[in-house]
Amino acid sequence: MPLYDNLQSVILAAGKSTRFNSSGTKLIEKICGRPMIVYTLRLLEELNINATFVVGHQKELIENTISSNISRNTNIEVNFIHQKEQLGTGHAVACTQDKWKKDNILIINGDTPLVNNQIIEKLYKEHIESNAAISFVVAKCPDSNHAYGRIIREKSGIKIVEAKDFDKNIYTENYDINAGIYIAKTDFLNNCINKINTQNASKEFYLTDLVQIASEKNLAVITYEAQFNRVMGVNTPYELWQTEETKRLDIIKNFIDKGVKFSLMNAIEIDADTQIGAGTLIEYGVQISSGSIIGENCVIKKFSTISNSIIENNVEIYQNSIINNSQICKNTKIGPFAHVHEQSKIEQNSVVGNFVEIKTSTIGQNNLVLHLAYLGNTITGSTVNIGAGTITCNYDGISKHSTTIKNNAFIGSNNTLVAPVTIGESSFTAAGSTITEDVPAHSLAIGRSKQVNKEDYVQRLLEKLRLKSTSTSSSDKKNNINNLEQENYIFSNTCKTNNSQENI
Ligand code: UD1
Ligand code: MG
Repeated sequence: MPLYDNLQSVILAAGKSTRFNSSGTKLIEKICGRPMIVYTLRLLEELNINATFVVGHQKELIENTISSNISRNTNIEVNFIHQKEQLGTGHAVACTQDKWKKDNILIINGDTPLVNNQIIEKLYKEHIESNAAISFVVAKCPDSNHAYGRIIREKSGIKIVEAKDFDKNIYTENYDINAGIYIAKTDFLNNCINKINTQNASKEFYLTDLVQIASEKNLAVITYEAQFNRVMGVNTPYELWQTEETKRLDIIKNFIDKGVKFSLMNAIEIDADTQIGAGTLIEYGVQISSGSIIGENCVIKKFSTISNSIIENNVEIYQNSIINNSQICKNTKIGPFAHVHEQSKIEQNSVVGNFVEIKTSTIGQNNLVLHLAYLGNTITGSTVNIGAGTITCNYDGISKHSTTIKNNAFIGSNNTLVAPVTIGESSFTAAGSTITEDVPAHSLAIGRSKQVNKEDYVQRLLEKLRLKSTSTSSSDKKNNINNLEQENYIFSNTCKTNNSQENI
C-alpha cells in the first residue's frame, strides 16, 4: 500500500489575515515569486495526498490562485469548501466533515509555507506507530514574546493554550509552540469536533482544543518536534519577509548542491519554479524570476534580470542585461546593457551587444547585432550583420509593421529600416541609409544624400566677403550682397538635392 493511502488533507485558508494590516489576504502574497498558499499545494502534490482547501475571506482570489497553479502532472484531487463565517480554526475543519473519506486527516494551516515533506513523513510515521488520536508538530520559538499556542504538559495531560488565553501568572516556563500541522484519526474527529466551544479570549472555535479533548479521554496524543524556521507561521509582513529570506537561501543551497555557482549569494534573488543547469555561474545582483529555465555552463553577470525566459546551454549574459519572456539559444552572447523582450528569440551562436534592444523579434543564427540598435517586429535569417545604430521603424502611430532581413544580409551603420520592409538575401545597405523600399537579393541599397565637395569654395567665399567690406558705393554694396546670396543659395541647394552616390 503506498505510504499515504489512508491519509487526506484539509488546508485552512479562510482566515481574514487581520494581523497583516491589509484588506486582502496574506495567503496569496508571493514568497520568492510563488503565492504562499501554493507552497502547501506543492507539498501535497509531492506527497500525493488529496487536498480540501477551506476558503472564505477573498474566496475567489484564493480558489483561482490554487486552481491555476495545480501541476499538470499531479494525480491528487483538489477541492474547496466554503467557510461562510470565519468562526475559528476548529469551525473551519468542521466545515469539511462531508469530505472525510480516509482514516486519517492531515490538517495544515495555510500560513506555514516552509513545512517540508520530511516533517509530514515523520509526523505520519509516529502517528500510525502510536495509534494516536491526534498528532501534531511542535517547535521551540526563539522569541519568548510570541503569539503561538503553547504546549502545556501536566500530570493530568497535554493541552494547547492560545496566546490570548496564556496567563503568565499561571504558566511560567518556556513552552514549545504549536506549529499548526496536525494528523487526526477521522473517527476521533467525527466524535469530537463538535465538542469544541468558544469559551476563550477570542470567542472562537479553536482547533487546538482537540488536544485537550483527546488527552482527557486518555487517547494517545503525539508531538513531533521540528526546527522552528521550518514551521513558522506567516501572520505579519515582517514574518513574510523572514520566510522569504529562508526560502531564498533554500533555493540557492539546492542549486549549489546541483553544481550551480554563485558569487555573494545573499545579494542574488532566485524565485521558486526556476531551473538552472550545472556549471552555470550566477553573479551578485542577479534576479531570476519564476518560470525561467537556465541551461548548463552559462554565465549570468552582475545586475542582470531574467524573467519567464529560457536560456540554453553555454550562454553568456553580460552586466545589466534584461531578458523577459524570451528564448536565448545556445552559445550566444548578450549585453552588457542589452534588453531582449516580448517573445523574442536569439538563435544559436549570435551576439547581441551593448545598448541593443530586441523586441518581439527572432534573430537568426550567427548574427551580429553588436552596438546601439533597436530591432522590433523583425525576423533575421542566418549570418546577418546589423550595423551600429540600426533602428527598425516598426510603428506608424497606429500599427506595428515587420522587417524581414534575409540570410547573409549586411545592414550598414546608422540605418533606419522603415517597416514593412524586406532586405533580400546577401544584399547590402549603405551606411547612413533610410530604407523605405524592399531591397532585392544580392543588391546594394543606398538611401542617403550624396556628399558634395566644393573645392576652394571657402577661399572664394572669403574673397567675396572682403570685396564687399571694401566697396564704397551703395550700388556696389547691393551687387556684392546679391552675388553673395546667390552663392549661398546654390551651395545650400546643392547639399539638399543631391541624393545619389556610388560609394558606400
Ligand atoms: C494558529 C493556532 C496556534 C498555532 C499557530 C501556528 C489555533 C486556534 N491556533 O494560530 O496554536 O501556534 O496557528 O502558526 O488554531 N483560518 C480559517 N478559518 C478561520 C480562522 C483561520 O481558515 O475561521 C485559517 C487562516 O487563514 C490560517 C490558519 O487558519 O491560514 C491559521 O489561522 P491564524 O489566524 O493564522 O492562527 P494563528 O493565530 O496563527
Ligand atoms: Mg497563523
